[in-house]
Amino acid sequence: MNIGIDQIGFFTPNKYLDMVDLAKARGIDPNKVLTGIGQQQMAVADQTQDIVSMGINATLRYWDRVDVRRVGLLIVATESGIDQSKAAALFMKQALHLPGAVRAFEVKEACYGLTAAVMIARDYLAAHPNQTALVIGSDIARYGVSSSGEVTQGAGSISLLLSTKPAILALRAEHSNWSDDINDFWRPNESPFAKVDGKYSKEVYLDFFTKTFKTYQAQTGFNGNDFSAIVYHLPFTKMGFKANQLALANLDKPAQTMLSEHFIASKQLAMRVGNIYTGSLYLSLLSLLERATLTTPALIGLFSYGSGAIGEFFAGELQAGYDKRLSPADDIAMLDVRQRVSVAEYEALFELAARPPKANQVLTSDELPGRWYFAGTKHGVRQYRQQ
Ligand code: HMG
Repeated sequence: MNIGIDQIGFFTPNKYLDMVDLAKARGIDPNKVLTGIGQQQMAVADQTQDIVSMGINATLRYWDRVDVRRVGLLIVATESGIDQSKAAALFMKQALHLPGAVRAFEVKEACYGLTAAVMIARDYLAAHPNQTALVIGSDIARYGVSSSGEVTQGAGSISLLLSTKPAILALRAEHSNWSDDINDFWRPNESPFAKVDGKYSKEVYLDFFTKTFKTYQAQTGFNGNDFSAIVYHLPFTKMGFKANQLALANLDKPAQTMLSEHFIASKQLAMRVGNIYTGSLYLSLLSLLERATLTTPALIGLFSYGSGAIGEFFAGELQAGYDKRLSPADDIAMLDVRQRVSVAEYEALFELAARPPKANQVLTSDELPGRWYFAGTKHGVRQYRQQ
């Protein structure tokens, strides 16, 4: 039975910071950010966009094509949680009019969370083939103003509908994991900002990629030449470039050329959005599907990494007609219509959004009509509204 991605939706808030502006304000050579880090723009979430509103907005990108009565499972993956107890999935369930019988909850393991959700959903659908599963990764990457990780921030959400008739990507059953208890990146409860050992985190990412990619090939008998593309979790696009260079070693020349070209296609959206943590790997997949010319059958490798840390390499088979499920022009339009904020505006928005609003303060949004937003708390309860 084929199980995999049937629908994909992407959302990022309506403001961004240009990385050259940020570099100049911090006294950094802009080339360090543009080529050394590989980022051009960074999404900025104001006080009215959080993981719930972004997750709903990402799902609404395709929701009118979905039979909500068949959705049996809803998992939200995040490391930017808005409550220690109540799952963000329950707020979203309400807004999306999902049936009461849905199993809805939240999962966490840094940026790996959405892959964990995808794997749970795959197993769920094997047991319930007539149902579908909605999995959403939603995050705001915050390291802090003037911090070393500042240029690798971002905000956004990816929503995936999995089914037993996947129109986009059928997931293969094999997977290869590596996990270890390490401190490369974490966010303690008392801090709105991540703590990070940046250089160490880059080393661990590459080490876990090497281990999982090698084991996957040994398990499956595939080798690098068999992949049409490999997509990566992209905390910043240079990180994925480095992993892709490792994947290219010892491959045939045509395979090297193809994987290199397809990596370039896969990083285009992330270059303009930044790190969206849980959704990042699937944003790379979306970017690949929208920017590359792929012919089916095509085997696509996926490398998921979550600090703390776990890595997973898995793969999927691209389905004929996958492009009918995509709306590349709308994705680009969403980025193009964003408002460019100055560094001073970004700093003010960032500090405000990182703390809870005043009790009972009603927030208004400047998002486009139809989009959901966080409207503040009423008697301690979070309120969500549609524009
Ligand atoms: P940094 O110290 O500012 O930068 O931190 P650097 O010194 O490492 O330089 C970056 C690159 O720019 C280097 O290239 C320099 O050579 C180059 P590389 O050696 O890596 O190829 N460079 C220049 N290039 C052109 N012109 C110049 C120039 N100057 C230098 N003038 C760092 C960068 C990424 C460490 C920092 O921003 C950070 O800590 N970010 C957050 C952590 C992170 O993203 N880690 C990635 C792996 S961990 C992960 O992916 C998980 C994560 O998503 C969280 C989760 O799982 O939830 C983060």
